[in-house]
Amino acid sequence: MGSHCAENVPQAAFSRRLGQNVFRNRRTAATERGTPLATNADLQARRDSAVPRGVSNSLAVYAERALNSELWDVEGRRYIDFGSGISVLNTGHLHPRVKEAIARQLEKLTHSCFQVTPYESYVALAEKLNDIAPGNTPKKTLFLTTGAEAVENAIKIARFHTNRSAVIAFTAGFHGRTLACISLTGKVKPYKAGFGPMFPEVYHVPYPMAYHGIGVSDSLEALEELFKADVDPRRVAAIILEPVLGEGGFYAAPAELLRKLRDLCDQHGIVLIADEVQSGFARTGRMFAIEHSGVEPDLMTVAKSVAGGVPLSAVIGKAAIMQSPEPGTLGGTFAGSPLACAAGLAVLQVIQDENLMQRATHIGNFMSSRLKGLQARFPAIGDVRSTGAMVAIELVRNGRPGSPDPATTKALVQAAGRRGLILLACGMNANVVRFLAPLTISDALLKEGFNLLEQALEDVTRTANAA
Ligand SMILES: Cc1ncc(COP(=O)(O)O)c(C=O)c1O
Repeated sequence: MGSHCAENVPQAAFSRRLGQNVFRNRRTAATERGTPLATNADLQARRDSAVPRGVSNSLAVYAERALNSELWDVEGRRYIDFGSGISVLNTGHLHPRVKEAIARQLEKLTHSCFQVTPYESYVALAEKLNDIAPGNTPKKTLFLTTGAEAVENAIKIARFHTNRSAVIAFTAGFHGRTLACISLTGKVKPYKAGFGPMFPEVYHVPYPMAYHGIGVSDSLEALEELFKADVDPRRVAAIILEPVLGEGGFYAAPAELLRKLRDLCDQHGIVLIADEVQSGFARTGRMFAIEHSGVEPDLMTVAKSVAGGVPLSAVIGKAAIMQSPEPGTLGGTFAGSPLACAAGLAVLQVIQDENLMQRATHIGNFMSSRLKGLQARFPAIGDVRSTGAMVAIELVRNGRPGSPDPATTKALVQAAGRRGLILLACGMNANVVRFLAPLTISDALLKEGFNLLEQALEDVTRTANAA
């Protein structure tokens, strides 16, 4: 059990009580002063006039503070967080050791730019990631700031190394919101529509989805067809895929596909890129999801949970490939900032010391078994799937995989929010609910979260029956 679990550890319990008191005191002081505190509705109205609609929020809940797996909004309401800020908080909100590492770093240096006057923490974190990356080939690591930037750089490195330009990606894959990344992403709405032209020479092949009858052979046949009809494999710089689709709906690539892709890449000199931005850092029960297959990718992109909430991303890859681009071609002003690297080092230590990979397997088993129980009661749940603690349900009408139910999915996310549970939707048809609780969540909060989920499912079913 993770030492961040509030009820088990005096330090966490203490900071939780302290946090609640500070919050209560702030509200009391504000009320005594007669200063009105912002409500969620006020803030949503201000947001609507100050922030473009292109950046949307799934719940109109304004976060005030959070600790481990709980979050409090500006009105003092408490939520159990099954979203982790889209998979960023595998080690929970404000893990005491991550917080302490950031605080210590804050006393020394926040920025110098690694490209100007480098610092040890960047090098130390690169060394650690090189050590834990899958496979025995020597590795090097480049730090960036966001997942999209990591993907962009992985493509740049693959292109430079191979002196080729084409890239193959997968339908339903998601790789970020920059222009190159939306081109790689295999979903038109909302990501690509209206933003064209796309990056040239990107080809998509189907990602296996057993629930929809798409198998490994469909992916491989599409690749074969692509090499026959559209692009010479000798022009292909990279094949990029998520070992488990994130935004695309939590389908896992079967090991057979990953092994076949490895062979194809070796045969044609193509760089295999595993996008582990969402699936990495113990989430699936291994440090990286591709480890379940035993395949060593050439390059790997990571972000999100790498630094416990501080923006950081990286490309980790085989040294010979990473070393290709000339000096000065890679980097970024904020890339691998001192605060992020300090947090990243603490995150790795926490994953190890608190056995978070094992914990992910336990959480995944618990969630799957509860969800299968709920599936028997709620026919809208067409499929339950999980890879470790990357767990999802797919909502359909009349039990048919081909009849997605995005309306019920949206209603469920809202109903859960009203009950005090943060959930995230995803999927090609916006009909998947994904569960990404921090791996440091306690068993008690997991159970409480699932009780809230059950109540939210009842709310949605009652409303649908009344309509
Ligand atoms: C698999 C994957 N790749 C890339 C990205 C882009 O990361 P960011 O939003 O940090 O740019 C995401 C974000 O959700 C992702 O899930």
